[in-house]
Amino acid sequence: MDTEFDTLIINGKIATASECFPGDIAIKDGKIYAIAPSLKGWKAKEIIDAEGGYITPGGVDGHVHIDQENTPGGQDYPYRGSDGFESGSRSAVAGGTTTMIGFAMQHKHRPDHTLADVIGHYHDLATNNSYCDYAFHLIITDPTPERLLEFETLISEFGVSSVKIYMTYERLALTDYEILHTISKARKSGITPMIHAENIDIIRFFSEELEKLDLLDPYSHARSRPSLAEHEATNRAISLAEVMAVPILLVHVSSPGSVTRIRKGQGKGLPIYAETCPQYLLLTDDTLKLPNYEGAKCVCSPPLRPTKEDLDGLWNGLRNGTFTIVSSDHCPFRMDEELGKPVAIKDSGKPGGDWRLIPNGIPGIETRLPLLFTFGVLTGRLSIERFVQLTSTNTAKLYGMYPQKGSIIPGSDADLVIWYPEGKYAPKKLTNSMLHHNCDYTAFEGLEMLNWPRYTFLRGSVVWDADKDAVTGAKGFGQYVRRETSWFTKNQNLFEESTQYKNEWRPY
Ligand code: URP
Ligand code: ZN
Ligand code: ZN
Repeated sequence: MDTEFDTLIINGKIATASECFPGDIAIKDGKIYAIAPSLKGWKAKEIIDAEGGYITPGGVDGHVHIDQENTPGGQDYPYRGSDGFESGSRSAVAGGTTTMIGFAMQHKHRPDHTLADVIGHYHDLATNNSYCDYAFHLIITDPTPERLLEFETLISEFGVSSVKIYMTYERLALTDYEILHTISKARKSGITPMIHAENIDIIRFFSEELEKLDLLDPYSHARSRPSLAEHEATNRAISLAEVMAVPILLVHVSSPGSVTRIRKGQGKGLPIYAETCPQYLLLTDDTLKLPNYEGAKCVCSPPLRPTKEDLDGLWNGLRNGTFTIVSSDHCPFRMDEELGKPVAIKDSGKPGGDWRLIPNGIPGIETRLPLLFTFGVLTGRLSIERFVQLTSTNTAKLYGMYPQKGSIIPGSDADLVIWYPEGKYAPKKLTNSMLHHNCDYTAFEGLEMLNWPRYTFLRGSVVWDADKDAVTGAKGFGQYVRRETSWFTKNQNLFEESTQYKNEWRPY
């Protein structure tokens, strides 16, 4: 072979969503050119020896809140999380994530803004600012007929093929009627709805009861939204999706009772997909009970759940195929900034704060892959192939960017993670000082990590080198990824035509 390649990666254990085999990879012009048992003798500008470590596709994080105005919490005024595209994407590559999908949010109080305006605004924030590739979901809070009409061109004009809708949060929630309109229009436009499923009235009821008892500490946030609030809304979301025969993804599922309900829907043949996050797999609501407002660090919705059985139930959902993806739900707010988590102290005037005013969310874009590798693959709970499905391939397929992303095949983007070979990584307790986000804590502080991405490649370039402890990529190298209809459901209409899913009550 006379061609000179940009990079050869040799001596790897190449892991995809379906197999793991020893091999070498040749990279040219940012793409994977060849994979073979040995590429010995091929010329390249750079040769990297994986020393027998796993090579996995770059992580695709399907759920991050980056530079998002008005991230849901109690307040009525806009405030933002602490990571913009620069720090959020820097943190992503240092943890092996090469593509992130953030949320471009439509605001109810800005009815004159078109969805095109909303997407344009997020492009302005991201362009020339990102270390990793990125795409956008839309958040729909005001599904007027005019805005729903825009769904028809979201893919062709903007490369956006998914929308998130909320069943809770006063300022964001859609009624069932609005959900039906939104998901039916999504179905006709080839768009995947993502649903935040918690019952708004159950939460309202318990919030009022807690207020009467003057229970306003961070732990009471979790008590205001019991797992049954998630189960009920999950059931309802599945029923609404079934009525319209729409594929949906249930985001950040936190409770085994929801897993059971989702599995039942899947068992009926419904195209129901589901996501969970490392915090729901590894942490319980004990973290919310920490004194001196420390519990605020782990306030997120849905909340962390109480028991080890809750965690085990979610791991089981990863193992039995109920979950499609694991995302981070990265949503950072600093503890040392007045407008971060302590905004609830400032606004309530109470030294212990008021959980109703705590910005919801925890950071996790950098720790998602290493945590799932350590606590999933290295404990034997997940095969390496299942790890790849959950953290990369399925996300790329679900959100319409496969096989450009999420795969190791000739022609796909050379987005790769090389892990340390066995015995080469000295176990380390995770500390926030190791991380590259703009947040002053990690909820996973102190967990013992048994491996970490040694190199992250984005389109053929090394953007993270753990041996040098350096982000070696450049801000602005990250590009926007245009997306298509979900790879999982693009033939859905064809399928429905030939089955009972062609429902007589839908006039289309
Ligand atoms: O608490 C969380 N998860 N905050 C982010 C917003 C959301 O609903 O995903
Ligand atoms: Zn949500
Ligand atoms: Zn979220």
